[in-house]
Amino acid sequence: MECDFVALAAPGVRTLQPYQPGKPESELRREYGLSDIVKLASNENPLGPSPKVIAAVQANLAELARYPDGNGFELKAALAARHGVPVTGVTLGNGSNDVLEMVARAFLTPEHAAVFSAHAFAVYPIVTRAVGATAQVAPANAADHAMPYGHDLAALYALIDARTRIVFIANPNNPTGTWLTAAALESFLSAVPGNIIVVVDEAYCEYVEEADYPDTMAWRERFPNLVVTRTFSKAYGLAGLRVGYALSHPEVADLLNRVRQPFNVNSLALVAAVAALEDSDYLAQSQALNRSGMRQLRADLAGLGLRCLPSVGNFLCVDMGRPGRDVFAALLPRGVIVRPVDNYGLPDFLRVTVGSARENQRLIAALTEVLENFPSPPLRKGENPPHLALRKGG
Ligand SMILES: Cc1ncc(COP(=O)(O)O)c(C=O)c1O
Repeated sequence: MECDFVALAAPGVRTLQPYQPGKPESELRREYGLSDIVKLASNENPLGPSPKVIAAVQANLAELARYPDGNGFELKAALAARHGVPVTGVTLGNGSNDVLEMVARAFLTPEHAAVFSAHAFAVYPIVTRAVGATAQVAPANAADHAMPYGHDLAALYALIDARTRIVFIANPNNPTGTWLTAAALESFLSAVPGNIIVVVDEAYCEYVEEADYPDTMAWRERFPNLVVTRTFSKAYGLAGLRVGYALSHPEVADLLNRVRQPFNVNSLALVAAVAALEDSDYLAQSQALNRSGMRQLRADLAGLGLRCLPSVGNFLCVDMGRPGRDVFAALLPRGVIVRPVDNYGLPDFLRVTVGSARENQRLIAALTEVLENFPSPPLRKGENPPHLALRKGG
């Protein structure tokens, strides 16, 4: 007799949708026989890894038959020194996704809930529902807000109830790119009861240049319920190796480590992350490339008449004024991979990673071609037809 495996699955898992990663280049190569492919779909670092990281990985290849240091001693020491926190407050993860999952497994049960925003990073609902907990999804800022579709802290706060154990906040958020100021986040943390874990996911913090962006490490002692997560996947260029970490109160770190898989960070990732942390020139280069690429992309997208959401990460969320998935599909045969975000409740948007100058130019050239061939998008409510808009403008 056939088994109904779905009925057999844990209730929270039955309705889960798997995380949708960016389309891999190899897939496009197979499907279209293309060789020159530009992937701007996963917010990776266009610089490639630092040469010092490559040297450190090569120097450690002979050790692959051994298990890694399961406590990640050297990397934790380096991170503790860098952030001025005790080593006991550092938890290492197989990417920061792993740490997010540890927080859910350590603090949530089917009787509990996690609060996060609409259009927030897709891993929050997955880790919440996978452990059978309830997802309390707060409405995001309105489209005409200064941070359109970004986190609305008052709405997040309003959802907190007796079941809530965790609040997940992405700052900046992916896929929107929107961010929260120090003042806003600080007053939120002051208001949230101390027995609720507030996770502030700072995966893109190294790119942020805004003066009012929070220095969450400075709040460590005031808010022991604060868990800050970071990653080596973005500005440090190590997405393929999978290393992230959490900085928290040592007692919280102790709990996270109880549910952590033994040897969750592999040996090459450990040495690579230490080398990456020491290579400040590489980080500065990544930041500079992102700054100039962001400027180039913003200007060129505006030149195509496209509006971007405000972003302080290494990506832009672009309003295509038509189904983003159609534009995504039309870009594929032109060798350009971007990210549709309909699964994030943003069907008319595309998320594009800031690439190298050449990659950005390829994207803009392909997009120009695609938009020329597309029929005009239907008018939105309240919008004037183009000829009227022109007349209105004089
Ligand atoms: C907001 C946010 N948090 C966390 C992650 C997870 O990154 P990783 O698991 O590679 O550290 C990402 C990756 O895209 C992200 O955008």
